[in-house]
Amino acid sequence: MGEMVEPAGKRYHWPEPLSNPMRHPASALFRSTFGGRPRTGASAPGRVNLLGEHTDYNGGPVLPVALQARTTVVVGPARDGLLELVSSRDGEVARIDWRDGRVEGWGAYLAGVVRELAILGAAPAGGARVAAAGELPVGAGLGSSAALTVAAAKALAALAGARLTGRQVAGVAYRAEHDHVGVRCGVMDQMVAALAKPGQALLVECASAATRYIPFHGRLLLVDTGVRRELTRGRLNERRAECEAAVARLRLELPELVWLASWPVSWLARLKKALPEPLRARALHVIGETTRTRFGAQLLARGRLKPFGRLLYESHESCRRLYQCSAPELDLVVAAARRAGAHGARLTGAGWGGAVIVLLGKGEGGRGKGERSVAEAITRAFRRAYGREPTITPVRPSGGVRREPVY
Ligand code: GLA
Repeated sequence: MGEMVEPAGKRYHWPEPLSNPMRHPASALFRSTFGGRPRTGASAPGRVNLLGEHTDYNGGPVLPVALQARTTVVVGPARDGLLELVSSRDGEVARIDWRDGRVEGWGAYLAGVVRELAILGAAPAGGARVAAAGELPVGAGLGSSAALTVAAAKALAALAGARLTGRQVAGVAYRAEHDHVGVRCGVMDQMVAALAKPGQALLVECASAATRYIPFHGRLLLVDTGVRRELTRGRLNERRAECEAAVARLRLELPELVWLASWPVSWLARLKKALPEPLRARALHVIGETTRTRFGAQLLARGRLKPFGRLLYESHESCRRLYQCSAPELDLVVAAARRAGAHGARLTGAGWGGAVIVLLGKGEGGRGKGERSVAEAITRAFRRAYGREPTITPVRPSGGVRREPVY
């Protein structure tokens, strides 16, 4: 357990990165399940997105940071060409043929990773044993599936003796989830899980995949509402279909249009006329969020946290009203953060539940003081409304995928 801050009557846990391999449960799980030591391993982080929600699959920019919480995957050879999988979540062993397109559950992510590695000539020839142990809640909008696929891609390529670049790892993980599992996500989660650097936010222009690191000097709290939406994937796919329908109609106006995010801002009146609801609202969110994210990246680069924070509130409002991907619990946390004087707050990730990020200044009033009073105010408001407390943790932007020692 990490450093702990104890405001009156309440404990907040400040988790530490698990940098000591002896504390990774993945190796122990591998040995107790398969009766031998793993050959190699890798870990990758979850993420929160500062700005740029639902822009990635529309060819716009995103601005995520990696979390301290990671998923570790350790691997060893298998004899018969199969994938043998075990996860710390349930401890059950699954044996799958990765060439089989009908794999269900979390095995589908791993099968997708191996199929994509095979295309690059980087899949372990004889099959593999895989143990995964994660610190990320599933379905909380914190990129847990990308942490799994990115760590698995790195570990399995290493088992095959192949060295992939960070971008190749991100590509394998993205295609595993998008093409093989069928979640119509963008590239944000996999890119940040593969490429993040400590202390930096990562600006990704998703149409070109151009990246830029921006030092992050603010303080962030992550407020997990505990609301898990099983339907998130379905809703994400639904929104993506709406965006594609909007592009198809807008092509009648601008035949060259490829990405919704590239619609010219000076032509908004034309867009409003061309699109019926709800396509109009979805498109206005994507285009407004694209402008906000590019402007926000400039502000962040100049250390202007206050105006940057205002963009976070605007982004939340746009997600709530136009993209309709918020939830009452998320709205309540954002409103409480605002009343408590936070620079900014917004839902992070796909939405419909999950978590809010709260941006605070550099530490006015002494380190931890602002965090504590904002965390307490949010907790009180949440308890009053829902009779339970959200989980609040500070975020320290962390590094991306890395090899892990095994034991
Ligand atoms: C999910 C997807 C991402 C992105 C966000 C919304 O997390 O995996 O690619 O589309 O939703 O910004």
